[in-house]
Amino acid sequence: MKIAIPKEIRPGETRVAASPEVVKKLSGFGFDVAVEKGAGEAANITDAEFKEAGATIAKDAAATYKNADMVLKIQRPVTEGAKGKNELSLMKKGAVVVASMAALSQKKDIQAMAKAGITAFAMELMPRITRAQSMDILSSQSNLAGYKAVLDGAAEYGSAFPMMMTAAGTVPPARVFIMGVGVAGLQAIATAKRLGAIVTATDVRPATKEQVESLGGKFLEVDAEMEKDAQTEGGYAKEMPKEYFKKQKEVVSEHIKNQDIVITTALIPGRPAPVLVTEDMVKTMKHGSVIVDLAVEAGGNCPLSQLGKVVVKHGVTLVGHDNVPGRLAKDTSTLFAKNLFNFLSPHVDEEKKTLNFDWEDETVTGTLLCRDGQVVHPMLTGGK
Ligand code: NAI
Repeated sequence: MKIAIPKEIRPGETRVAASPEVVKKLSGFGFDVAVEKGAGEAANITDAEFKEAGATIAKDAAATYKNADMVLKIQRPVTEGAKGKNELSLMKKGAVVVASMAALSQKKDIQAMAKAGITAFAMELMPRITRAQSMDILSSQSNLAGYKAVLDGAAEYGSAFPMMMTAAGTVPPARVFIMGVGVAGLQAIATAKRLGAIVTATDVRPATKEQVESLGGKFLEVDAEMEKDAQTEGGYAKEMPKEYFKKQKEVVSEHIKNQDIVITTALIPGRPAPVLVTEDMVKTMKHGSVIVDLAVEAGGNCPLSQLGKVVVKHGVTLVGHDNVPGRLAKDTSTLFAKNLFNFLSPHVDEEKKTLNFDWEDETVTGTLLCRDGQVVHPMLTGGK
């Protein structure tokens, strides 16, 4: 069985869907692993390291994909365009592709994969069950994004984070406010605390209050009554009613005036990100303060932030980096690769040196998008 690890071609993608550790494990199962030349270059993983781990280095994309039974990718394959750009056209019929597919927003690409006879798995749809925690790409990538958001904020901020008492006077500590306390938000709290900031945080899910406090942050409560019903069974936030946003706006407007760095991470799966910091609020912030909008790819938690740009509006710097996990590509690639491995390894038939999926397994049914020429995921066929 041949497993292909191509070089990612979508603009700005620096990660690679394999690490030497995972290549070694896959080779250990008796699989042929082909890594495209330079696939790990932007993540500082060399061809030599992949080779040493047991991979063959393929000279280009065509050679990588040729006859591959399985393709491991970071981002969904490009399904259109000229030869060389159209990744789907390089895959054999029946190949299995495992990647982050943006399945709920990019239905055309999923249909194209089905039509080409590809079996595709969307890792971002992994069910949030305890057993699948080690397969959860959203967690592994958000965790590092939360950390990097604080460093990006600190780099743009013209003052220090920790309080410093010097002979020439005292430098006050920075005030950092985290909006949205999921995986990224929790790591942002921990990182900002480590740097010595005074940290506050808010979220619609009531369970987060205790988590914020256990990390040494102060929780900013909006409306405990309305928050009682804010979480889905899967652990995600629900879209909140208008009255909640009104109340949140009042509470946040008051608080944000005194903050130096605001990190927003609020997301609702399959929906645009909620607006949490309005232009009016930005106007009240101190000159030199910084907003890092980690939700910018989903439309942003602040309407002034711009995807892929750092801009200054009303004296406030808005950081809207695209693909923040890709800014720590070696670590995020390594974790992503391990997530893929943890998903696939229970289905390996070591004797026959092949993959034999258990089609009833919740991690398989939860992520399978298309098979045998058909789109099958209930979220795409209207079944759920
Ligand atoms: P996310 O990335 O979808 O959203 C980030 C945060 O924004 C969430 O905490 C959400 O409640 C918050 N938010 C949404 N709308 C908001 C609003 N209007 N105002 C303020 N905050 C708002 O969430 P993420 O990071 O993926 O995690 C959600 C939960 O899932 C966490 O409790 C996490 O521990 C849990 N989880 C469970 C896993 C498992 O059991 N396998 C794996 C990963 C996460």
